[in-house]
Amino acid sequence: MPSTIALLSSSRRLGNTGSFMDRIALELDIEVVDLATRRMSPYDYEHRNRNDDFEPLMQQVLAHEQIIFATPIYWYAVSPAMKLFLDRISDLLELPDLLAQGRRLRGKMAYVVCTAICDEPSGAFMDAFRETFDYLGMHFGGMAHVNCQEGYSPAMHDPEALRFAALVRQAGSQ
Ligand SMILES: Cc1cc2nc3c(=O)[nH]c(=O)nc-3n(C[C@H](O)[C@H](O)[C@H](O)COP(=O)(O)O)c2cc1C
Repeated sequence: MPSTIALLSSSRRLGNTGSFMDRIALELDIEVVDLATRRMSPYDYEHRNRNDDFEPLMQQVLAHEQIIFATPIYWYAVSPAMKLFLDRISDLLELPDLLAQGRRLRGKMAYVVCTAICDEPSGAFMDAFRETFDYLGMHFGGMAHVNCQEGYSPAMHDPEALRFAALVRQAGSQ
């Protein structure tokens, strides 16, 4: 099975999104990288931030065929660190020595894992991901979403975690 990695960004590692993502990761036996543990600066037009953790992290990510982006929905959008990470992907499209790395994103499978206090993520939230994946030449493989209005509940949310894990496993085996 092609390897899979998850990138998690939440304002609390052991909150709803982290718990949901950990359940999925347990099922798939994959690594969850908490973006909060990496030192990453916002996108810079002058690229004066090349010595931070973005490029090593990207190399780690590119070693996998399937990438899961896990974030809570904060004001109809991704968490700040997830946005920062997505912005920094622009480096791969702009810096001549990183262009080859950027091309390696093409054809990879991309997934979204999210939590919120509503039953479905808004169209705008999902469209931003879908269009970003499309722009990068990645294939959108699907998403998992749970309503955490009452907090994260294994009893209530395990079925969605297991459904999604099966989807990722199945896609990876083709
Ligand atoms: C700053 C902030 C903004 C939020 N905005 C939304 C929102 O737009 N839509 C929604 O359904 N839930 C929203 N929520 C609720 C969270 O998405 C929900 O509680 C989520 O499960 C939190 O995950 P976490 O524990 O990983 O932070 C928001 C929560 C916070 C703290």
